[in-house]
Amino acid sequence: MLIKRPPDIRSSEITDQSLYLNRRAFIRTTGAAVAAVTAEVVARPLMAAGQGLDDKPTPYQDVTTYNNFYEFGTDKSDPAKHAHTLKPRPWTLRVEGEVLKPKTWDIDEIVTKFPAEERVYRHRCVEAWSMVIPWGGFELGKFLKQAEPTSFAKYVEFTTLHDPKQMPGQRSGVLPWPYVEGLRLDEAMHPLAILVTQLYGRPVPNQNGAPIRLAVPWKYGFKSVKSIVRMRLVREEPNNTWQVVAPHEYGFYANVNPAVDHPRWSQKRERRIGELFKRPTLLFNGYGEQVASLYAGMDLRKYF
Ligand code: MTE
Repeated sequence: MLIKRPPDIRSSEITDQSLYLNRRAFIRTTGAAVAAVTAEVVARPLMAAGQGLDDKPTPYQDVTTYNNFYEFGTDKSDPAKHAHTLKPRPWTLRVEGEVLKPKTWDIDEIVTKFPAEERVYRHRCVEAWSMVIPWGGFELGKFLKQAEPTSFAKYVEFTTLHDPKQMPGQRSGVLPWPYVEGLRLDEAMHPLAILVTQLYGRPVPNQNGAPIRLAVPWKYGFKSVKSIVRMRLVREEPNNTWQVVAPHEYGFYANVNPAVDHPRWSQKRERRIGELFKRPTLLFNGYGEQVASLYAGMDLRKYF
């Protein structure tokens, strides 16, 4: 996602990372950066922009063979080929930190207590491709409430399994392991944020993040961490993996926003997998009516 150029973007549309870093150094020294970031983008409640668009679910075959899951390789086809080494049972998920009731859940207790309901979500990767996915899952907020977060809890940190035997990509240094992501607590409590246990009505396949992953549809896909083993309620903003690797390119918020380009490519448009022509990207991925109030008054260029 970072190391190589996204496969859906022509090389002419992209800035090589080394060139980009040099250019940034130049901009910093000339002070031109100030001019580049003066146009303000402030969140305000949105009309339901484009919500009537034709949003046919992406075929199961595409959803399960075109994946980002660096624990199994960096090519889109790698997870489908290699994720059979992941064992989604037995599996535990620990909830801890600023909570009154920390607990290690068994995955089967979770799926019994929180039956999956279908949510068809748009899924927009930061690499400017998108899908429409019929997930099955339940509200993250309802799950977190079981732990009774204390008044000190302000963020949730999510951690993927770290086991190079099951996840051979973790033997490489392509990312710092384990993969970590974070949400502000009010984002995590939003009813659109779900924990996913199913895809197309079946247990979520390994390559899509078995046995339990996140889906936060108004954010770029990298926030939707896969194969989660721990959630920690914390006081400070967690450092998510891509932010650690390239802080100028990947922010904490990662809200889908066509007005804030990735430093090396445009975010104005996206290629829906299976379609020939690009379509416009929607602010908050089209979920603005539901989520824009979470960011009222925030400068979305600064908090990208
Ligand atoms: N979670 C882990 N643990 N490792 C990853 O490499 N990739 C992220 C996210 N979650 C990733 C991850 C990225 S960049 C995207 S776009 C989505 O997973 C892809 O989800 P999908 O393969 O189900 O479409």
